[in-house]
Amino acid sequence: MHDLQVIRRRLRAVALLLAVVAWAFASAAAAQGAEIYENQCATCHGPSGEGGGAFPSLVGSEVVLGDAHALLALPLQGAGAMPGFATTLTDAEIADVSTYVRTSWGNDAGEIDAATVAEVRDELGADPGPEPAEEAEEPAEPEDADEPDDADAEEAPEEVEWDAELGAQVYGANCAACHGVEGQGVPGAFPALAGNAFLNADAPFVIHVPMYGRAGMPAFGGLSDEEMAAVVSYMRTSWGNDAGAVTVEQVEEVRDGPSEIDPDDPTFRPGAAN
Ligand code: HEC
Ligand code: HEC
Repeated sequence: MHDLQVIRRRLRAVALLLAVVAWAFASAAAAQGAEIYENQCATCHGPSGEGGGAFPSLVGSEVVLGDAHALLALPLQGAGAMPGFATTLTDAEIADVSTYVRTSWGNDAGEIDAATVAEVRDELGADPGPEPAEEAEEPAEPEDADEPDDADAEEAPEEVEWDAELGAQVYGANCAACHGVEGQGVPGAFPALAGNAFLNADAPFVIHVPMYGRAGMPAFGGLSDEEMAAVVSYMRTSWGNDAGAVTVEQVEEVRDGPSEIDPDDPTFRPGAAN
């Protein structure tokens, strides 16, 4: 009788301990999912998944709430102006960020585990991804970037001639104060440009930001086309970034184009620029 009570009490203590451990794991994964979202997805989909302009809302999205396999194709392979993350995020990281978007902002779909991500990688023949807990050796292959005429381009963009010295100089004089000498940014104030997935977006989207400015960032339209091409190429190819250089012609097109990104404007849709 007495023994039974002791055993019961011990069992309860063990169950409590297990619950605490499970909770600690779950909250570590949730924190990691939130952090990956903030660093890799929020720049396009908004801090609360609300999207905007050419970027779809993830709140109540059928893709987000639907079949896990169909959803995972997006972060793994990308689509249109969205870069894939197969080469830069591990199975666990993709699982955490996908779980985060499925369980945040009122979304109420099931969690996704790393094993499911591994399965979908296999199904899609996607890159096996970085070694867990190691720096990615190869940054994401920019899909579509710079090759707007060939939406299926898998190859890195053709070598583009650009002036690296000029790029570094323009960056140092105009951008480093906020984004950091090493593109590291200032947490909470100025986004990091090192490892920033937005830089893999189609060239016009990326050029548009320094050309016309954006919330909290001044416009640098006063730079010449050569200076602008050099600084954008510089940030797309420095600090581990591997999105490829942009051309002076692409800068001219953005300068001649609209100052507001209109989601219906073909200039800012993947595959439509000329
Ligand atoms: C450079 C901008 C960009 C970044 C960064 C980005 N996305 Fe996207 N995302 C898009 C665009 C554009 C689409 C629409 C793609 C299409 O179908 O043409 C999209 C679509 C999606 C969809 C499908 C939504 C729907 O309802 O169709 C999901 C899910 C998604 N993204 C998740 C993510 C996650 C998770 C991340 C971060 C790991 C991420 N995205 C990062 C631009 C981006
Ligand atoms: C006064 C500070 C400041 C300076 C100087 C500055 N930026 Fe920014 N930059 C910002 C802020 C703030 C944002 C975020 C804007 C937003 O919230 O949309 C940003 C965003 C960006 C982005 C988009 C990043 C993302 O994740 O969406 C790019 C690209 C960029 N800046 C490039 C540049 C370049 C190139 C220069 C120099 C020619 C430059 N910035 C100079 C403050 C600055």
